[in-house]
Amino acid sequence: MLRFFSISKLGFASTRCIFGAMDIKSAIELLDSGELVAIPTETVYGLAGNAFNPAAISRIFTLKQRPTSNPLIVHIAEMADMFGLAKDIPNEAFQLAQTFWPGPLTMILPKQSKVPAIVTGNQDTVALRVPNHPLTLELLKELDYPLAAPSANLYKTISPTKPAHVQKYFGKNFPILDGGICASGLESTIVGFKNKQTVIYRHGIITADDIFEATKQKVVDVKGNIIKTPGGHKQHYSPNTPFYYSGHPEALINDLNHEKIAFIKFSKNQFHFNKKVNEVCFDTSKNLNHIARQLYATLHDLDDHKYDAIVAEKIRPEGIGAAIHDKLNRAQNTQKI
Ligand code: TXA
Ligand code: MG
Repeated sequence: MLRFFSISKLGFASTRCIFGAMDIKSAIELLDSGELVAIPTETVYGLAGNAFNPAAISRIFTLKQRPTSNPLIVHIAEMADMFGLAKDIPNEAFQLAQTFWPGPLTMILPKQSKVPAIVTGNQDTVALRVPNHPLTLELLKELDYPLAAPSANLYKTISPTKPAHVQKYFGKNFPILDGGICASGLESTIVGFKNKQTVIYRHGIITADDIFEATKQKVVDVKGNIIKTPGGHKQHYSPNTPFYYSGHPEALINDLNHEKIAFIKFSKNQFHFNKKVNEVCFDTSKNLNHIARQLYATLHDLDDHKYDAIVAEKIRPEGIGAAIHDKLNRAQNTQKI
């Protein structure tokens, strides 16, 4: 079901409340007039605007408080739309698109001139993805333009995996296409192509192994200075609460001077704490998709409960664990002790 909120307070749209099929129509009206709409995807909610309308894109950066040097992902309805936006598309990109789209994979490709510079942070590449959510796919198919959409959170905060998270950042009245809880719960895997290699810019549910299976070409990780990633800022996805990510959580927690501590645990280890600790335990013996799905919601909840500190135990960075590790590593907002 689609929910439609007034955002007149923010000066973006007038008040109305429409349900059902009409709602996609209303979302289209808003987007057509250069306004923004939060859209559901299988990964996280996106803050969407017409990718061909620089004023709309500028609104995204302002609302999200994100530097304009940090480019946006352009969401398209199907693989064929890639031809209108990118050029010099390598074979591996077709293979990956055929295998994973619609799905949580973003590809960085040389851009065509019709993609506005503001979308790509003035770079000559564009990030493309076909998201896998029925509402958003229907919306994209109806529109005459693609949707630029970063995650619908404020810059450097936890990404939203349900409408309530979006409302937390942009207010109760922000227009949201309500697609329920995001099925995957982690941002898309981002890849680029260089020297006949697939380069992973950001880990996600689609792993290096999955990519290798599809292309049979070498997959390399972005490490250090090999490739510049505008989105590779160290701190990201952070709660407001002091957050630690540690391979030695027992010693760390016992050293902390805080009273109220939450601990996210990924192992079966028994820890002995010298204070009361609220443990949130995840089962890592099965596949890790359920952790990916719940990770941000858990961080949101713990953040809302105003703990003095949140500590997460290091997870093995293998398979989907690589993406979970990456998110938690970047979420650290404290000096390590
Ligand atoms: O799952 C997702 O990817 C979600 C949903 C809404 O699709 N979107 C998302 O967007 O996570 P955002 O803006 O939060 O993260 C996109 C990342 C940023 O780190 C950005 O720097 C990088 O993609 N990016 C976008 N265009 C790029 C480009 N041309 N070259 C390199 N990196 C790019
Ligand atoms: Mg984001």
